[in-house]
Amino acid sequence: MTKAKAKASAKKIKKEKKISKKKSRKTKMAKDNNRKTFPTSASVDEKKEIKTEDLILMQSPRGMHDILPGDQPYWNQIRRSLNHAFLEYGFQRIDTPILEYSNLFVRSIGKGTDIIDKEMYTFVTKGRDDVALRPEFTASIARAYIQHGMNILHKPVKLFSTGAVYRYDRPQEGRYREHRQANFDILGEQDPILDAQLIQLAGRVLRGLGIKNVQFQINSIGCPECRKEYLELLVSYFESKRNKLCHNCKKRLETNPLRILDCKEDKCMQVSAGAPQSIDHLCDECRVHFKHLLEYLDELEVSYVINSRLVRGLNYYTKTVFEIWSTGEGKKYSLGGGGRYDKLIETLGGESTPAIGFALGLDRLVMEMKRTKVKLYKETKPRIFLAQLGELAKKKSLKLFSDLERSGILTAESFGRGSLRSQLRTANRLGVDIALIIGQKEALDETVIVKNMSSGTQETVSREKLVALIKKILKNNNVVSVKPKK
Ligand code: HAM
Repeated sequence: MTKAKAKASAKKIKKEKKISKKKSRKTKMAKDNNRKTFPTSASVDEKKEIKTEDLILMQSPRGMHDILPGDQPYWNQIRRSLNHAFLEYGFQRIDTPILEYSNLFVRSIGKGTDIIDKEMYTFVTKGRDDVALRPEFTASIARAYIQHGMNILHKPVKLFSTGAVYRYDRPQEGRYREHRQANFDILGEQDPILDAQLIQLAGRVLRGLGIKNVQFQINSIGCPECRKEYLELLVSYFESKRNKLCHNCKKRLETNPLRILDCKEDKCMQVSAGAPQSIDHLCDECRVHFKHLLEYLDELEVSYVINSRLVRGLNYYTKTVFEIWSTGEGKKYSLGGGGRYDKLIETLGGESTPAIGFALGLDRLVMEMKRTKVKLYKETKPRIFLAQLGELAKKKSLKLFSDLERSGILTAESFGRGSLRSQLRTANRLGVDIALIIGQKEALDETVIVKNMSSGTQETVSREKLVALIKKILKNNNVVSVKPKK
């Protein structure tokens, strides 16, 4: 072999080796991809190491979901219903930050609750602030009430708030790590008539959404004074049955005995069935308050059941507590819940301010609306389609679209499409009443072809007369396609 030949063959071998190395790297990566897991650092070539932090997992975080356009009609119905309700009942909207200092929630919701002990998303900021994603709204409402001196406002102060809340729970159907709530809170009044009115309001919102099969469960857990005596009785009862309680409830006996009543374990439920009931141990004031609430509810013809095991999972409640449960087939969900929190503002350093509120779980409302196949409002759809042919017509139609929009006429278009046939196909698919067509001639003449899609007739009109003609045709066709005036 000549020197040159030997050099060439060595080069060839080197090249082949390189290709085979590349191939095996590719197969390895393909295999990893097929596994649908991240390649581990051990499974990729050392030189071309892919760091897991560089890969984006194409999934929303566990327990959190996107609300896609297909589901928006349900959400629009909820937004519309809530907006009507809060205005009609004299509430004012308040928006608070998604983050608060963690100790606001610890002080409000209380240690020994699932939210504080297990479910808060907490972290320390670069400025060393200990903050948490809000697991609920009530603490933030109370904080805002104190911070902005709302105590000087005319009472009661009625606040409506809505948005996402975060709880690091085990995700399952109807239980998410991010869910949305709507809160109605009334501060500064202790009269039970407000408790009754709020419960009625909750029912009104649900009915407005078409959700009919619900049950209101009500209880009174008294004030700190009468609860002290009741808790002693409860603890001594559960102590006598300690062996029959689940592991968690044995712990709750020390940390939060009231929560044992809420445990869903069969054996604990059996023990709870015989436990002393809070309504039998209320002080005079709490007893009268509860009695009046029930009378008001009867007056409003709101049906309810008294659930003596209802204690709620947040420690700030006093006197009235209530929950709204779905009653249809399948798994039952709490769609909303609330109660009085007469001592919370004081606990946080404000002046003594009785308060009551509730929250609806909006994701669960959507689930229930889907499950019971509620009828959705028809969204206003454009009844007009604007088609164009040629460069000049395209420019003119852009301006016409904006003029129609300003005149309050909803119009659809597909400006990106060049062919008139494909544009008219889109118009047909959308089921519009009128197609407006601008070609080269119309663009030069400042006219528009108005095609009635149902009769197939068409006429050419000047730009000045266009809006009046469209409104006339839509009126005759008896369709609403004009945006409501702001
Ligand atoms: P809550 O009972 O914890 O009350 O939550 C209210 C509603 O939010 C529940 O009834 C349920 O529909 C929904 N919800 C709760 N957790 C989840 C979850 N993980 N996934 C989906 N939905 C959920 C409170 O938050 C109180 N701050 C209500 C209140 C307002 N009390 C006085 N004012």
